[in-house]
Amino acid sequence: MKFLNFLSYRKILLDGKKIPRHVAIIMDGNGRWANSKFLPRSAGHASGVSAAKEVIKSAIKYNINTLTLFAFSSENWTRPQDEITSLFSLFIKSINEEKDKLKSSNINITFIGERTSLPNSLQKIMREIEVQSKNNNGLHLNIAISYGGRSEIIRATNKFIKKSPLKKLISEALLSKNLDTYGMPDIDLLIRTGGEKRLSNFLLWQLAYSELYFTNELWPDFKESDFIDALYFFQCRNRRFGSLSDHSNA
Ligand code: FPP
Repeated sequence: MKFLNFLSYRKILLDGKKIPRHVAIIMDGNGRWANSKFLPRSAGHASGVSAAKEVIKSAIKYNINTLTLFAFSSENWTRPQDEITSLFSLFIKSINEEKDKLKSSNINITFIGERTSLPNSLQKIMREIEVQSKNNNGLHLNIAISYGGRSEIIRATNKFIKKSPLKKLISEALLSKNLDTYGMPDIDLLIRTGGEKRLSNFLLWQLAYSELYFTNELWPDFKESDFIDALYFFQCRNRRFGSLSDHSNA
């Protein structure tokens, strides 16, 4: 008798009709992963990029429509300058590598956050890859860089005020229209690695009704089987959106 391997066993538990449309991930734990191996923090971030590539492959495999990754928060600007500089170099290198594969991967890449504060070289390559991938219709990969949820809401409100006739009041729909994530579905599933159970100013508006999945796994160790566990957790939830009846989480 042939036994299923561990991954196949987990996979058969998944219901293909209840896949979250939009998954967001707080990729936490690169520094602790590096410390535990007596490596510099930069080695943790480099392994974090490999884990991000793996999760992108998994998102494609399991038919996720949109994947948002939290790569650099508005609070991360308080880190030592050499860590920030090495992170930005790593982003440029990773985006460049992705650029060469855009045709075959069919990924549509966008960025959210306060990008004007980023180095020009990074802003330039972000713009280039957005333009080059805009007609791709596979996974929508959305990367948050220099992103904070509160600042996004303030920027959206100010955009609205600037465009609006005097005294026009803002509504949920109008605010959503001015957010960086305009046009994307709300988050169905948030995954946070690294053991902390908080939102850390990530997508505060868009997470209103999402399911929250926390794991102790450090980000560089996060693999396909962990992603399946998170999807399975999502499929076991009854999503009521404030009403009494169950809604499908498809
Ligand atoms: C958290 O680890 C991670 C970050 C600050 C963001 C960096 C993320 C990557 C390099 C991976 C993905 C990159 C791309 C381009 C999608 P931490 O330093 O906060 O870890 P710690 O809590 O253990 O110190």
